[in-house]
Amino acid sequence: MTVTELETADFDYIRHLVRQRSAIVLEPGKEYLVQSRLLPLARKQGLADIGALVDRLKRGDAAVTADVVEAMTTNETSFFRDKNPFDALRDDVIPDLLQRRKSKRTLRIWSAAASTGQEAYTIAMTLREHFPELGSWTVSILGTDLSQEVVEKAKEGRYAQLEVNRGLPAPLLMKYFERAGAAWKVKQTLRGAVEFRQMNLIAPWPALASMDIVFLRNVLIYFDATTKRDLLGRVRKVMAPDGCLFLGAGESTLQYDGTFKQVTGSRANCYRVPVAA
Ligand SMILES: C[S@@+](CC[C@H](N)C(=O)[O-])C[C@H]1O[C@@H](n2cnc3c(N)ncnc32)[C@H](O)[C@@H]1O
Repeated sequence: MTVTELETADFDYIRHLVRQRSAIVLEPGKEYLVQSRLLPLARKQGLADIGALVDRLKRGDAAVTADVVEAMTTNETSFFRDKNPFDALRDDVIPDLLQRRKSKRTLRIWSAAASTGQEAYTIAMTLREHFPELGSWTVSILGTDLSQEVVEKAKEGRYAQLEVNRGLPAPLLMKYFERAGAAWKVKQTLRGAVEFRQMNLIAPWPALASMDIVFLRNVLIYFDATTKRDLLGRVRKVMAPDGCLFLGAGESTLQYDGTFKQVTGSRANCYRVPVAA
């Protein structure tokens, strides 16, 4: 067996494993990505190369399997990413829900695929800044992600200077963060407003309360059409009938779930299920 054939077999083993565990699709041609993400992991395990890492995976090492799947996730995110969804939240979605929920005084928001937490903390800051009346409501903001590592970072709420430089306005940095050495840490008052949990979107879900707003941004892009269809259907079932779904700028429910309708006139990429549907 030549080295090239061995590498192809290793790549195939890894991409099947990653797809089975996370639904992330690694097309042929992504060998460089596997190489660059997994070689450091192999070395950390004291292994010479990815072939040796694959041998370890084949022996069913659960911890290494989880590490490999996590290493193949892309966790790119930032505060106020794409801006428009948070403008829509401030200008349209929350004012509308304030009216609709005024007797229940409850609001539930889910940042699914939350990565290191910037999205969920951005939502929390938007609510604090613009809707002080929610202080007397029951508001829950849940952030979930497949990767335990990013969930831990989100919970800690500690961000490097470069991370806070990306999208976070200086007055909000001063108000909601405190210095932690060279980094910044989200103040407890804001951290306490967000709960983070590990959760795989393609596995059975724990019981979730009905969600008024779901952010499912920049994760569908990694999945195949069947997974997108299935996931959107499951998300729809946990959403309140008048709830609102935000997708990433390049994503759409079109082709996958005809029940969702894009909100026209909104600068954000958001969807609702029309009441008659
Ligand atoms: C590019 S980040 C998006 C973060 C944030 N939503 C945003 O738009 O800035 C995609 C996240 O999806 C997570 N992810 C990938 N597959 C997943 C799965 N099967 N279940 C839950 N999260 C998953 C990754 O771990 C990663 O943190």
